[in-house]
Amino acid sequence: MRITAACHGPECDLGAVDLSDHDFYATGDPHPVWAHMRRHAPVHLSTLPDGRSFWSVTRYHDVDAVLRDHTRFTSSKGTLLSVLGGTDPAGNKMMAASDPPVHTALRKPMSKVLSHRALQPHNPQVRRVVHRMLAPLLDGGVWDIAEAGARFPMAFTGTLMGLPEEDWEQLARLTTAAIAPQDAGYRRSEGHGTLAAAHHELFAYFSGQVRRRRRDPGDNLVGFLVGMEADGRALRHDELVYNCYSLLLGANVTTPHAVAATVLALIENPREWDRWRAGLSLTSTAVEEGLRWSSPANHFMRHATRDMVLRGQPIQEGDAVVAWLGSANRDEEVFADPYRFDIARSPNRHVAFGFGPHYCVGAPLARIALGALFRVLVPAVERFTLAGPVEHLASNFAAGIKSLPLTARLSPEAARAIGAAVAEDGPVIV
Ligand code: HEM
Repeated sequence: MRITAACHGPECDLGAVDLSDHDFYATGDPHPVWAHMRRHAPVHLSTLPDGRSFWSVTRYHDVDAVLRDHTRFTSSKGTLLSVLGGTDPAGNKMMAASDPPVHTALRKPMSKVLSHRALQPHNPQVRRVVHRMLAPLLDGGVWDIAEAGARFPMAFTGTLMGLPEEDWEQLARLTTAAIAPQDAGYRRSEGHGTLAAAHHELFAYFSGQVRRRRRDPGDNLVGFLVGMEADGRALRHDELVYNCYSLLLGANVTTPHAVAATVLALIENPREWDRWRAGLSLTSTAVEEGLRWSSPANHFMRHATRDMVLRGQPIQEGDAVVAWLGSANRDEEVFADPYRFDIARSPNRHVAFGFGPHYCVGAPLARIALGALFRVLVPAVERFTLAGPVEHLASNFAAGIKSLPLTARLSPEAARAIGAAVAEDGPVIV
């Protein structure tokens, strides 16, 4: 998805824009549309040619209100536009597609093992993975950071879940196919074929992993879920499969795009790159700005549990309401100069990880991984240069870059550290 400074022209015809169209995010630009909606139609109804419809909220405080209030906006009927008009079979079984108290019972134990403190021992492992990922830069050739980044979450979430390294490539492909089924790089057939096939393969895969971990739990997240109790009982097989799927999807289809979009923003704003290189202590705020800037999860959906009025618009029980996170993160009422990439931005209460009960349970892991990556990358690379066209993912969910070819000038110390990591463990499997 392109990230531009939106112009506030009167020319935006909302009737001509379909925000649910995956292709719009590959070739179009939602930012001027969202800017127009925030100003003129903050609660807007879109009706698709097949009669399905959804409300869009685009302002920060409305996105906050919708995501935070599970009593008025339920997650149990599905949270992505891909299930609009249907039923979500994972409803009330998967943490992301349930409401309290089911949600709370699932989330409490999971959030403990995914807390910042619990993940600290994995820090050195993540650093090693980052060094191995950067190996292609050693020979001075072209490195596609978007392609490399697509495998990055497997290296930490896959490891944490105890998934074999030889499966990573395929899992990264399948999870992306599930959210970008019409993208030319992932499409296998017309209609819902690609999505259904990706789901089928992922569920079959995790079904096997769950069975394996029943025999041999080991010290990993799947084994933990198998042994975990929610509300005094063990999870059923389908609940285990859905939650494994959700954890991997949550990591794979978001984190890579925060990496690529942040690097692209730094190429476009070289003074911010120099500023970061001059002060690595800026890493925490810079990572947060990269998250706000990229907003890798474009939207989350809810369904109204009762009739209500939202900013003057009557919403009926059962209506779908989509919260556009990328728009909320550019809301000029909340962020000063929102189209400026500022690595020291403060305050920066972005909504990239959501709000309320479903606030991303993987946020500590994502922050550790992104921090580790940029703590290696920023001092290592004196300057990145674009080496080809930037390609965007056709997905209404992931604000994604799928190709960002670069060349880089490495510092001599970085080249030595990367060389040593590769000599010890080999490059990350590609
Ligand atoms: C930059 C990286 C990431 C971004 C931008 C992101 C974004 C989000 C957002 C916006 C939500 C809220 C969903 C909602 O309100 O319905 C969420 C929830 C979730 N995320 Fe992430 N996520 C990231 C990384 C991860 C990682 C690394 C994992 C896996 C460890 C993960 C797993 C999940 C899960 C399981 C949920 C559901 C939580 C719940 O329902 O309580 N995410 N994520």
